[in-house]
Amino acid sequence: MIIVLLGGPGSGKGTQAKKLIDKLGIPQISTGDIFRAALKEGTPMGLKAKTYMDKGELVPDEVVNGVVGERLTKPDLAKGYMLDGFPRTLPQAQSLGKILETQGKSIDHAILVDVPDKELVARLSGRRTCKNSACGAMFHVMFNQSKQEGICDVCGSNLYQRDDDNEVVIRERLAVYNKQTAPLIDYYETKGSLRRVTGVGPIEEIFAAIEKVLK
Ligand code: AP5
Ligand code: MG
Ligand code: ZN
Repeated sequence: MIIVLLGGPGSGKGTQAKKLIDKLGIPQISTGDIFRAALKEGTPMGLKAKTYMDKGELVPDEVVNGVVGERLTKPDLAKGYMLDGFPRTLPQAQSLGKILETQGKSIDHAILVDVPDKELVARLSGRRTCKNSACGAMFHVMFNQSKQEGICDVCGSNLYQRDDDNEVVIRERLAVYNKQTAPLIDYYETKGSLRRVTGVGPIEEIFAAIEKVLK
């Protein structure tokens, strides 16, 4: 099964993806996580991506398409996968479409996790992320607290606040989403693969709604 998770910054794509990994037994491919991991390793690609991420802008399509194109050739994807944060522009969606076509595959569900902008700002401002990139669990200081402050419930590593989770950059990410990524909602609607799920409410209820869509 191939799933695309669509939704604004902070809509809960990553949170739901982590739960779906257990449920479906397929991996999550988050382009944001790939760039943050590359930065941690200090690769040229990671350093280049950071200059865009710090401003809340999109990493150029050629870079992203190259990274994803390579990832999609890996053997762990035989049973399917979830794309989280990709595609984010029409050229990225077209590039993905071409890759899948050559592989004789197609997207089963493009799930839109729908959350109003004003709620997104509050979510991102209070987000805490696990430092251990193999884990990457997300928490929130108000809405989804870790049992022990600053410590990941899943793996016990320290939590940190992402560099781009500050109000100025959050506003820019929202503007970029509405301008460049929101058109993909119509794109997938036209293709018949769009599934809308409300992303407001308890995390478990949103997960149940996604499970229903997948049945
Ligand atoms: P990326 O890492 O993808 O960030 P994003 O899209 O801005 O999305 P987030 O990860 O911020 O949010 P999320 O939807 O995963 O929400 P989460 O589950 O964490 O991208 C970062 C940057 O990388 C981009 O700005 C860009 O520069 C670059 N990039 C990445 N992909 C790219 C691409 N394809 N093309 C070009 N550039 C690219 O939840 C957020 C918070 O809310 C958490 O604290 C969580 O605990 C809480 N929460 C979750 N669900 C709920 C709920 N139901 N109620 C209350 N709180 C909740
Ligand atoms: Mg995420
Ligand atoms: Zn962790």
